[in-house]
Amino acid sequence: MANGNKKEGTPGEGPPRTREPSKEVPLTTRQGHPIHDNQNTRSVNSRGPLVLEDYPFLEKLTHFDRERIPERVVHARGAGAHGVFEAYGMAADEPVSRYTRARLFQTPGQKTPVFARFSSVIHGGHSPETLRDPRGFAVKFYTEQGNWDLVGNNLKVFFIRDPIKFPDLVHAFKPDPVTNRQDPNRLMDFCSLSPETTHMLTWLFSPWGIPASYREMQGSGVNTYKWVNTEGTSFLVKYHWRPLQKVRNLTQQQAEAIQAKDFNHATTDLYEAIARGDFPRWELQVQLMTDGDHPELNWDPLDATKLWPEEQFPLRSVGVMTLDRNPVNYFAEVEQVAFGTGVLVDGLDFSDDKLLQGRTFSYSDTQRHRVGPNYLQLPINMPRVPVATNQRDGQMTYRVDGHEAGVNPHINYEPSSRNGLRQQERMGPPPRPYVQGHVGRQPLSRPNNFQQAGERYRTLEDWERDDLISNLVSALSQCNPDIQERMVDHFTQADPEYGRRVSAGLSKAARH
Ligand code: HEM
Repeated sequence: MANGNKKEGTPGEGPPRTREPSKEVPLTTRQGHPIHDNQNTRSVNSRGPLVLEDYPFLEKLTHFDRERIPERVVHARGAGAHGVFEAYGMAADEPVSRYTRARLFQTPGQKTPVFARFSSVIHGGHSPETLRDPRGFAVKFYTEQGNWDLVGNNLKVFFIRDPIKFPDLVHAFKPDPVTNRQDPNRLMDFCSLSPETTHMLTWLFSPWGIPASYREMQGSGVNTYKWVNTEGTSFLVKYHWRPLQKVRNLTQQQAEAIQAKDFNHATTDLYEAIARGDFPRWELQVQLMTDGDHPELNWDPLDATKLWPEEQFPLRSVGVMTLDRNPVNYFAEVEQVAFGTGVLVDGLDFSDDKLLQGRTFSYSDTQRHRVGPNYLQLPINMPRVPVATNQRDGQMTYRVDGHEAGVNPHINYEPSSRNGLRQQERMGPPPRPYVQGHVGRQPLSRPNNFQQAGERYRTLEDWERDDLISNLVSALSQCNPDIQERMVDHFTQADPEYGRRVSAGLSKAARH
């Protein structure tokens, strides 16, 4: 551990899997003073009043008052685990080096420690895990080149393609600010005026919107990224996680039956599987495309509402992830872990995907607020390579980056002739995309909002289609007639039968 502050038991680091509490360890304050009586406050006589100088009591209570940090604004409810990613060295039958120089993928069998966090999106930290919602699938790779975060969802597409719409999307799906209830009339209102949501809604309202467990769901990076090889050639890439446990989803009815008895079923399932040694595994697969606009496609490869058809852009396996260790402390690890789409290593890059660029700003911005400006000094977020910056101070600083490396501790600036930190050589040519165009607020020119939604509708199995129609009718029957009309129009444009079935369901619901 290059940061020099490795201790057995630090959250990111691999403490023993189970630890029995020892009877030998004496209770102290955070100042290291022994506590002799943890049952009685200090008072004037046995019935009070209390005295103000009871430091252990004040320390205990004031710390308790501050036990919570702000929840994630989305994806608050989650579960996580540690594990390892093992590279194949190949992208299907070709050496992976043809496409990326990122070191973690190069050598067959090369192992990289990871931490994964799965989540639901809309409701708070203790909400039921059976709700219809996309599921987050975020993985932090502690690579030898620093951290790489792949922050994805279980579904392979997203509701919107422009990040300026994200706060509105989330507000529409969150509870009403007056009644504090989630309301289909709000979320369908937004979607009926945002036709690009049709594809995602077709996934979300089918059984794919309620995975049976975290272990039995897919993951996807959703956004388009780039890979860069040693020559500096770049490729567009999409990432997907294939569960080796197979995929299993729930109908609304099955989910309701589980929720009646258990609202933590997904956390329990993940924790218990790992505790009994039944380690869940996912294969990481990529789809690749030459870098460019691809005018031959009738959709834009940078559009997060679109899939890349697998027949045209085959899935290539590049490695496998195994989750084999439960967190020791939920708060220190699962709550404080901070993922971001800007966290990339050499050989992995952004694309011009506007949604991705918006996300890249948002994640570290919220984490500086949610966890604090020094969130990257926490063991769960810290890379496993030396960190040497001239960033100093701020709330909760507990180390000086680079201090152990023998540099002059007086020098917190660069350049310096006095043994300060130095810039490093590059691994290969830097990506130098050429950009030209008019600046303005401009939608993508190939929206094609309905074609893939229709294809998805036709690809579903009969029971999945029945559940989709029933779930949409149930939500839309609570909506204003103009919202229903616009939504039926979107489904009809996707597939005439799709629209007809939702419309018939709504007429039937109105008669009852
Ligand atoms: C413009 C679009 C988006 C914005 C602005 C946005 C913003 C955010 C924010 C602010 C958080 C809370 C992070 C934290 O407190 O640590 C978050 C969490 C998350 N987002 Fe997004 N998001 C967007 C789109 C997406 C998309 C398309 C995906 C899926 C590919 C996604 C997946 C996730 C996941 C998995 C988490 C939880 C990460 C964790 O477990 O800590 N988001 N997002």
